[in-house]
Amino acid sequence: MIEQACEFLSERIAGFQPDFCLVLGSGCGTIAERIRAQAAVNYRDIPGFCPSTAPGHSGKLIFGMLGGKKVVCMQGRLHYYEGYSMAEIVFPIRVLRRLGAQYLVMTNASGGINVNWRPGDIMAVEDHINLMGFNPLIGPNRAEEGVRFPDMTRAYDPVLIATADNAAQQLGIELRHGVYLAASGPSFETPAEIRAFRTWGADAVGMSTVPEVIQAAHCGYRTLVLSLITNMAAGVLDRPITSEEVGETGAASAEKLGQLIEKILVDI
Ligand code: HPA
Repeated sequence: MIEQACEFLSERIAGFQPDFCLVLGSGCGTIAERIRAQAAVNYRDIPGFCPSTAPGHSGKLIFGMLGGKKVVCMQGRLHYYEGYSMAEIVFPIRVLRRLGAQYLVMTNASGGINVNWRPGDIMAVEDHINLMGFNPLIGPNRAEEGVRFPDMTRAYDPVLIATADNAAQQLGIELRHGVYLAASGPSFETPAEIRAFRTWGADAVGMSTVPEVIQAAHCGYRTLVLSLITNMAAGVLDRPITSEEVGETGAASAEKLGQLIEKILVDI
């Protein structure tokens, strides 16, 4: 299937070989407008790709230039809560690696567990806690892609985080560092869960990204993840969480996050 998807894409991108795979999370889809696009392909047309059903995820691969680099952008990601298997979620990441991408740069929306932070803050993910209850590498190991027991101590590339710090400083953007905890969703977490996660050292919680990061560690990407705090996590404030506030903060911060990503790509 990977070969088939690669062949299908190769025929449509006329020798354009992306170095960067960009995955845009909830509310961050407009960042793709910064790309000087050379080709766009709908997920539903690509062999083995699944359509994206989450709100604000348009389900397109966009090939083009951003920050002087050759990128392929997944405008819209697949989530576990949509009912996709882990294998389906990470399939595009494997395909784009085979197509030549070496860097994986992802954004996501998350709830702030760290009480010193505010909606609109951006966190460079330094590490994660996988509470999805599953790992995308379960099953026979594909030795041509990677080892059976991949190391996760450098899954979030420290050099790329330093590049992001530098870029943020030059743009006057404050960049937080922290630990991202992945829950399956789709219900938001309970206040008791958030209190527990805080004692474990989590700074933000979300429903994505970790499967892709594990896959990326397996198949040898260098990975950077920027998480946009769209709301304070359950129980931090005395009010319910809505997907509307997630979308609104995403839209309000997309410009800042887009600038930062473009600068990071220039600097790498
Ligand atoms: N919890 C889980 N996922 C999220 C949240 C949250 O509070 N905000 C945005 N994505």
